[in-house]
Amino acid sequence: MSSPLHRWHGSTYLSAGWAAALSLRGTTLPGDVEGVAAVTIWRLSDPQELRVTTEADYRLPRNVIPRHYQLTLEPDLADFTFVGNEVVSVEVVEATAIVVLNAADLEVDSATIRTPRGRGTLATGIDRDEPAERLTLTFPEPLLPGDYELQLSFRGMLNDQLRGFYRSTYKDEAGNDAIIATTQFEATDARRALPCWDEPDLKATFGVTLIVPDGYAAVSNGPETSRTGAGPGKVAVTFADTMVMSTYLVAFIVGELDATEAVDAGGVPLRVLTPPGKTHLADFALEAGAHALVYFADYYGIPYPGDKVDMIAIPDFAWGAMENLGAITYRESALLVDPATATRTELERVAAVIAHELAHMWFGDLVTMKWWNGIWLNEAFATFMEMKCTEAFRPDWKIFLGAAADRGAAMEIDALATTRPVEFPVASPEEANAMFDTLTYEKGSSVLRMLEQYIGEETFRRGIGSYLAAHAYGNTVTDDLWDALEQASGEPVGEIMHGWIYQGGFPQVRVEAEGDQWALRQEQFRYLGEGHGTWKVPVLYNGAGGPGRVVVDQAVTISPGDDALVNAGGSGFYRVRYSPALLEAVADRLGELEPEECYSVVSDTWANVLAGEVPAPEFIELVGGLSEETEPSVWRVALTGLAELDRVASSDVQPALQGFVRDLVGPQADRLGWTPQPGEDDLTRELRGLLLRARGGLGDDQDTVAEARGVLEQALESPDAVDGEVASAALAIVASNGSVDDFARFLELRDTAGTPQDQVRYLRAAAAVPEQETAARLVDMMLAGDVRSQDAFWLAALLLGHKDTGAASWQRIKGQWDEVLAVMPKQNLRRMFDLIQYRSEPEVAADIKAWLDEHPVAGFERHLAQQMERLDVRVALRERESDRIEQAL
Ligand code: BES
Ligand code: ZN
Repeated sequence: MSSPLHRWHGSTYLSAGWAAALSLRGTTLPGDVEGVAAVTIWRLSDPQELRVTTEADYRLPRNVIPRHYQLTLEPDLADFTFVGNEVVSVEVVEATAIVVLNAADLEVDSATIRTPRGRGTLATGIDRDEPAERLTLTFPEPLLPGDYELQLSFRGMLNDQLRGFYRSTYKDEAGNDAIIATTQFEATDARRALPCWDEPDLKATFGVTLIVPDGYAAVSNGPETSRTGAGPGKVAVTFADTMVMSTYLVAFIVGELDATEAVDAGGVPLRVLTPPGKTHLADFALEAGAHALVYFADYYGIPYPGDKVDMIAIPDFAWGAMENLGAITYRESALLVDPATATRTELERVAAVIAHELAHMWFGDLVTMKWWNGIWLNEAFATFMEMKCTEAFRPDWKIFLGAAADRGAAMEIDALATTRPVEFPVASPEEANAMFDTLTYEKGSSVLRMLEQYIGEETFRRGIGSYLAAHAYGNTVTDDLWDALEQASGEPVGEIMHGWIYQGGFPQVRVEAEGDQWALRQEQFRYLGEGHGTWKVPVLYNGAGGPGRVVVDQAVTISPGDDALVNAGGSGFYRVRYSPALLEAVADRLGELEPEECYSVVSDTWANVLAGEVPAPEFIELVGGLSEETEPSVWRVALTGLAELDRVASSDVQPALQGFVRDLVGPQADRLGWTPQPGEDDLTRELRGLLLRARGGLGDDQDTVAEARGVLEQALESPDAVDGEVASAALAIVASNGSVDDFARFLELRDTAGTPQDQVRYLRAAAAVPEQETAARLVDMMLAGDVRSQDAFWLAALLLGHKDTGAASWQRIKGQWDEVLAVMPKQNLRRMFDLIQYRSEPEVAADIKAWLDEHPVAGFERHLAQQMERLDVRVALRERESDRIEQAL
């Protein structure tokens, strides 16, 4: 260990929290330090002085434990303030005169403690430590062990930062601004609404009362139990006590919301609540939600742990959705949809988000990770279950084939030197927030799927059921899950999974013929540089005797048959690299493979182009064999590779590449035409949209562009007469060839759109117009608040990734850096850089890297480092391939 950081390292992670709070500038030193891929050291005013904090600095003392919160809150929707009062039943387990809990951005006016029947004792000290987000109460005498009630009065602001207790705005039917007060507590923002022990293992029950204007809807985790007068024009709405649960799951929502009737989902009442006038968009959510509730109770073998489920659409929402027990909040586009005009992917998104959040009611809410380092348990599992459930809901959608793209996204990050292990030390709130990324969700769910396929679906399900039953109302660590799956399967699950969870990266399995055998060996897959990790790789294959399975650790050999294939079923989280001769044989059978397998072959080949192992012309030749392909997912992975090549192709090669794309998609696009046939399935309709888009976009086919204009007009005139996929494709094609006038029209259409999906589509269309003037206008709109802050990150990402205008958008955004960063919620800022890898023009790339070096985005240092490495990968791709592409054309 040569790193000078070693002596501070020990077994815990060095954190940036304290110095960040003091707003000092830090230096990030990348490098492997005992499994920790990067360490951030912050320099204080004296450069010799280093202050390093660990998880212990953020954990509350355990001498006082909360059991029940009796909470009353009164938001003032006109003033953007709230007042609160809580009585917390606590157990003092060790004598203390000092009680420490979390609070942030709250004024605490009084604190009193009493034994259940005793007299109250006022705190003599109420001390707030804002950087530490803590409240320290000092009492005149030590509290002896026993039960107490702690009473606190406090006040705060309904903020506009989309976290804690915040305000969301919309125009009411008369066109006036109206407010919804709502909450988002995960990861560590419950402390912004109520003083509390804000750690996931300090579970308690919650009894909530909300004082709201008469006639307003009020929702919390439990069902409403009473509504009584509370002064002029006010009512006090009380909700049933919750089950024992973590603070991050508490929620309250107040506003003039409309509610659907409750539907019966296997005995659980399920409703959707929306801003006024939108319940007509809730039918699909009710159907998907009812299916999911029944599905999960059956899969887990445990009844739904709450009493009711409300799903609430919030106009301003930082994430997609949040699994508050019984009161799930969503951004509008993730809940409200019109199935008659939506595309399949838009509908799938709604069904999947709903399934994901409902999966959490058990996995996450009933059984919760002990600490944020284990957040993958929550999120990876919910993502995996979301797919299982949606697969059962709509088998025709082939969810697990679509999931291959998510696996690909995870492998993209995990092939970087700047990746991290799925489970990773977390100390500060910033670090907890940074955990909600592709590695947690997509790598985590993919390795669970790999394991499930390896040990068998029913065995896996039994293991999960017993894990949940054993830990209900409690907290767990990763080993608890492996133990349950080991019990169920009799396989060494913990041993197999260790490397996938505690080590960053993944392997490539090399396959070579040795005599009449195939030899399988692993090496780490990296785009740049080399890695030296090894894994226990659970490989499924087709061999001479049919399907086989083997854990590849050291080299192994298998006997191949005529249909020999490694990674059969395509669910492995590894790449496969056949020797050239074997790859040729596999490519010849591409059409005979299962779609998941075909996907993997194309995806593995593309990844090796990015890694510089396979020349791009070989990839082009491979996908040239796909013209008969009918699966949208397989097309998508092929077209994504081609689109990347188009980005880096020199301008004299581009026309030939466009011609190649036209020839490739032509036969199927002609067959499908612009009009769906009666009885067509959803994936066929999706394929039509995808191929038309490829022909008009990447293929630059001007006839298709002209046709798209006609179809768009027709769709705008009578939306119900044009299929959603066709309408969406026509819009995208027109937009990417659009003018300043088209742009103005898209913005108008956004303002009058009848569904959240249409709003998104039109804003996306506006961002796709290839004019500097329109790109500049969108940045201005973002800064002026004409785009909701929840959408700013993806709009900025689209602008930065735009093929023609992106480089100039980078200059614009850089020129107003602080302003741009200030208009989006801090939590999802990093996602603004999700497409920055496309700025691989060498001078632009160098400028971006230099700028971000000087302007690190606090809390997201690792994400930025990953994006910069992805950018390096594309700069190298351009350098290698921009002219060579021609060889295949
Ligand atoms: N628990 C998360 C929401 C969340 C994300 C809270 C990050 C705090 C920080 C929720 O269950 C979730 O995962 N939502 C996803 C949607 C899901 C379908 C992948 C989201 O918001 O993107
Ligand atoms: Zn989740």
